[in-house]
Amino acid sequence: MLGFSAAFTLLLLSGAASAAFGPTIERCPADFKLVRRGQTISASESQYIKERREKAIPDAFKAYSQNVKRTGIELPKYVEEILESTQFPTVGISTSGGGDRAAIFGAGVLNALDGRNSSSVKKGTGGLLQAATHLAGLSGGSWLLTSLVQANFPTIQHLIFGDGHKQDFGGWLTSFSVWTVSTDPAEQAIFVNEVLQEMAVKAKHFPVSVGDAWGRALARHFTNGTTVDTFFSNTSHGAGILFSDFVNLPTIASHEQPFPIIVLDIVSNHINGTIFPGMNGIPLNSPMFEVNIFEMGCYDDVLAAHTPTKHLGTTNESLCVTGFDQAMFISGTSSNLWNELNRTVTNFSLLVNETYPQSPALRLDTSNYPNPFHGIAPDTFSDSGETILSMCDGGEDGQVTPLQPMLVPDRKIDVIIAIDAVDDGGGFAHGASLIATQQRMQIFPGGLATFPAVPTTLEGFANLTTQPTFFGCTPSQEQSAPGPMLVYIANGAPPRDGSPPLTNTSTGQFIYTEPELQGMLAQTFVVATQGAEVDGAPEDPEWAACLACAAVDRARARQGLPRNGVCVTCFTRYCWEA
Ligand SMILES: *[C@@H]1O[C@H](CO)[C@@H](O)[C@H](O)[C@H]1NC(C)=O
Ligand SMILES: *[C@@H]1O[C@H](CO)[C@@H](O)[C@H](O)[C@H]1NC(C)=O
Ligand SMILES: *[C@@H]1O[C@H](CO)[C@@H](O)[C@H](O)[C@H]1NC(C)=O
Ligand SMILES: *[C@@H]1O[C@H](CO)[C@@H](O)[C@H](O)[C@H]1NC(C)=O
Ligand SMILES: *[C@@H]1O[C@H](CO)[C@@H](O)[C@H](O)[C@H]1NC(C)=O
Ligand SMILES: *[C@@H]1O[C@H](CO)[C@@H](O)[C@H](O)[C@H]1NC(C)=O
Ligand SMILES: *[C@@H]1O[C@H](CO)[C@@H](O)[C@H](O)[C@H]1NC(C)=O
Ligand SMILES: *[C@@H]1O[C@H](CO)[C@@H](O)[C@H](O)[C@H]1NC(C)=O
Ligand SMILES: *[C@@H]1O[C@H](CO)[C@@H](O)[C@H](O)[C@H]1NC(C)=O
Ligand SMILES: *[C@@H]1O[C@H](CO)[C@@H](O)[C@H](O)[C@H]1NC(C)=O
Repeated sequence: MLGFSAAFTLLLLSGAASAAFGPTIERCPADFKLVRRGQTISASESQYIKERREKAIPDAFKAYSQNVKRTGIELPKYVEEILESTQFPTVGISTSGGGDRAAIFGAGVLNALDGRNSSSVKKGTGGLLQAATHLAGLSGGSWLLTSLVQANFPTIQHLIFGDGHKQDFGGWLTSFSVWTVSTDPAEQAIFVNEVLQEMAVKAKHFPVSVGDAWGRALARHFTNGTTVDTFFSNTSHGAGILFSDFVNLPTIASHEQPFPIIVLDIVSNHINGTIFPGMNGIPLNSPMFEVNIFEMGCYDDVLAAHTPTKHLGTTNESLCVTGFDQAMFISGTSSNLWNELNRTVTNFSLLVNETYPQSPALRLDTSNYPNPFHGIAPDTFSDSGETILSMCDGGEDGQVTPLQPMLVPDRKIDVIIAIDAVDDGGGFAHGASLIATQQRMQIFPGGLATFPAVPTTLEGFANLTTQPTFFGCTPSQEQSAPGPMLVYIANGAPPRDGSPPLTNTSTGQFIYTEPELQGMLAQTFVVATQGAEVDGAPEDPEWAACLACAAVDRARARQGLPRNGVCVTCFTRYCWEA
């Protein structure tokens, strides 16, 4: 009775959203393990992939193969045989950070690969999304990923624009910015107040920071529970939508969705190392973290440890926390850049601390997680002695395209489709994030798959971002395992037909009109389908075949078959060799 009335009072004081955002603490289940060590994937992930490979992917590859063939380009027999057999390849998709621009460009590429879009099917690129096993997102790319997964894998048009006013998911609501949502000070104050109030229950037992406020603000755009009409209403706005609960979504339960992974960085006081040029945050030698629907953890050999996503917030095996893994808190962590900004001007941090005073030892600019890895790998893990992990945007080390999850050997990825919409200058991507990953792999490759050689300078990327490029076409002979091939699709240049570029908007732009969004999606569609009409002819009528050649190439090599037919000319056209 007492417990009930205490809970009831909390609800009254701080609203439904706050209750839903507040984690609960209970006795741990009997078989609970806080930490799993190693660089292998979890049994749950193995099982998900196994079921996906048995139940969903064979038909997905058959449908994709039909779409490629319908373009009329003659494929070598082996391409068709691999796609339509049980020897099909393992395809992962990584979609970069870069704010809304990256979310939109990434969405445009996913749409071009979506077998449900008839234009994509006609181009012969549609269907590869359905055949992918893994999908990784970071920062703006994590907004795309989280919104897509939690809305139960709708088409991109439904995802971005919603279904009108009645649906749970109102679309990305880009008529509102993220922080400054109204020019009316009174309305803005209501919003700020609500965001702060939503943290009340969590703040009773857990550290809170600007990361929580940021996640609550983002939740209004990227999770169910908000429409244009309810933007300012005192409702839940996606509070209580948990990353670990995604396992219950119909299209996850049926294994129709690629396995979703979000990448995070750590802000550590114990690491000094090379900061990648142009970055001012996290050294390249910092451990990297990921959150998937089953686990949060680190695959780098310096830590190689994982904890259940469902029980994030937990630090021992007696009392277990649930409800900490709020979807937009995690995606908000992956996009938390506040630690890079001038702390004295990040007023929201101060406001949080005024409302919920934090210990002076706590950072207010990071997203804070009770450290489940306390005492683990003390000799190699920088933050083994910390009680709190201070986490931030997954791209702050310079690796803004989330490739590392695809290099976990146990995931056996054959080809990574790397979508890069980072702003490396002028709002376009010039390859910096790939250079960063190449450099990091030289610092500590321990136990990860071989990353294909890429140019070492931005100049070297000059012509590789203006059309898709394949890396790792010819793995070196001495490598026992070749590692994945990379199909690199960059937001790299203005359209070739001379029309004004729409996809190179600033990372700080959060307000977009519907025509702007449609324009960006249309230009991205051209990039991803190599469909620029020049003098009435498409840019590369063989692109669909070339993409299929890349998708099957590692599977081809496994069978000891030579590349032939159109695949030979495709690889001449699209491969970069060191
Ligand atoms: C939201 O609703 C709760 C009751 O559910 C109330 O206590 C709180 O003051 C409301 N907040 C705002 C900003 O209206
Ligand atoms: C298919 O993609 C194109 C290009 O982005 C878009 O214009 C169209 O609306 C999409 N169709 C559907 C049904 O989503
Ligand atoms: C979000 O809403 C969509 C319908 O718009 C629904 O299919 C999906 O299950 C909902 N997701 C969650 C996490 O509630
Ligand atoms: C990192 O460098 C700073 C000064 O540059 C120093 O104070 C600190 O002790 C160093 N930390 C480590 C872990 O080496
Ligand atoms: C276990 O974790 C809970 C919740 O964080 C904490 O209150 C408790 O003191 C911890 N117990 C031990 C034995 O450390
Ligand atoms: C941070 O902001 C304060 C207040 O606007 C200003 O005085 C200070 O120079 C800034 N510091 C940096 C490093 O930009
Ligand atoms: C920051 O917040 C303080 C009060 O917390 C206020 O006095 C100051 O004007 C704010 N500064 C900005 C730049 O909003
Ligand atoms: C947060 O507020 C507390 C209590 O007022 C104060 O001790 C602490 O220094 C503040 N933290 C930061 C990082 O400003
Ligand atoms: C986008 O590219 C065009 C042409 O290169 C350039 O004029 C414009 O300034 C760029 N926009 C942004 C926001 O960088
Ligand atoms: C690279 O692009 C430039 C124009 O940006 C062009 O002049 C040059 O010929 C291209 N080089 C190659 C090898 O295609």
